[in-house]
Amino acid sequence: MTSTTGSRSEFFHRPVLADEAVNLLLTRPDGIYVDLTCGGGGHLRILAERLDPSAVVLGIDRDPEALLAARENLKSLSLKMELKNSTFGRLDELLAMAGIKEVDGILIDLGLSSYQIDTASRGFSFMKDGPLDMRMDTRTSLTAAAVVNEYSEERLTAIFREYGEEKRAARIARAIREACTRQKIMTTLQLVAILKPHLPPRDINSSLARLFQALRIEVNRELEELEAVLPQMLRALRSGGRAVIISYHSLEDRRVKRYFAQEARDCLCPPRIPVCVCGHKATVRLLTKKAMKPSTEELRVNRRAKSARLRAVEKL
Ligand SMILES: C[S@@+](CC[C@H](N)C(=O)[O-])C[C@H]1O[C@@H](n2cnc3c(N)ncnc32)[C@H](O)[C@@H]1O
Repeated sequence: MTSTTGSRSEFFHRPVLADEAVNLLLTRPDGIYVDLTCGGGGHLRILAERLDPSAVVLGIDRDPEALLAARENLKSLSLKMELKNSTFGRLDELLAMAGIKEVDGILIDLGLSSYQIDTASRGFSFMKDGPLDMRMDTRTSLTAAAVVNEYSEERLTAIFREYGEEKRAARIARAIREACTRQKIMTTLQLVAILKPHLPPRDINSSLARLFQALRIEVNRELEELEAVLPQMLRALRSGGRAVIISYHSLEDRRVKRYFAQEARDCLCPPRIPVCVCGHKATVRLLTKKAMKPSTEELRVNRRAKSARLRAVEKL
């Protein structure tokens, strides 16, 4: 399963909560569906196999390597399909360019594909040596190396605290700044060696995972992207259309949960105000009161699905 060379033929990713996501998403077999994080096309293929030939599918991913794999994986399907390399924060524009006004279903499967994590040259893994890169789209300019070598101690502290929920953020940021005065930090394992002495030995892997996650979120502006896409996504759905989002950490899931809860309510006035003055009307119905999690059966074959949380809504 692991791949370190970055070749398309080695693209591997097992779609997470796939049946659950597709069952929730699919309302019309001849509808218009958008997968905003199509990766190598895992979910998209399962969805497309259940659609009529007259259905339309739009797949988006910011990683050009993922799209090459998706093209290969989906080429035998005979429906109208367009795959586009872009960030999902530009959804309004992408739909306008494709001439689509309303859609029946939108899927967002956040985070990284196994291919991205396992390809050492992408720099996402703290287990493999590679350049400190972490860009989902390697044509963008900000790399993890730039963040680590050029950001101030205060800014690094904030990133580790907010995006990595790391208690020792200040100490870790100081250690990085000190190390940089001796030598630039250019590789993943160089960074790991600097971080390790400041982390509790029993929790080393989960701490490294959170710190790498923090850098990745900063490099790819992941939370800004998520905040930007949520209102665009609901605007794009037809009445009765559905949105499904799979998150992999609490920073994402919290935002999705709050946004969906807010959009499912008729009034957003604080409880101390006796009569509604905000005039907010619910725009969606919650399809998942609590987040769905992978079954034990799924976790047996895919440990990486462990942190997945799925939430879905239907547009009123
Ligand atoms: C978990 S993978 C998706 C896997 C896919 N659902 C499948 O089953 O094959 C997440 C994908 O989202 C892409 N991605 C993350 N943030 C994105 C964004 N803001 N815009 C577009 N693509 C994004 C990543 O490049 C990655 O390929």
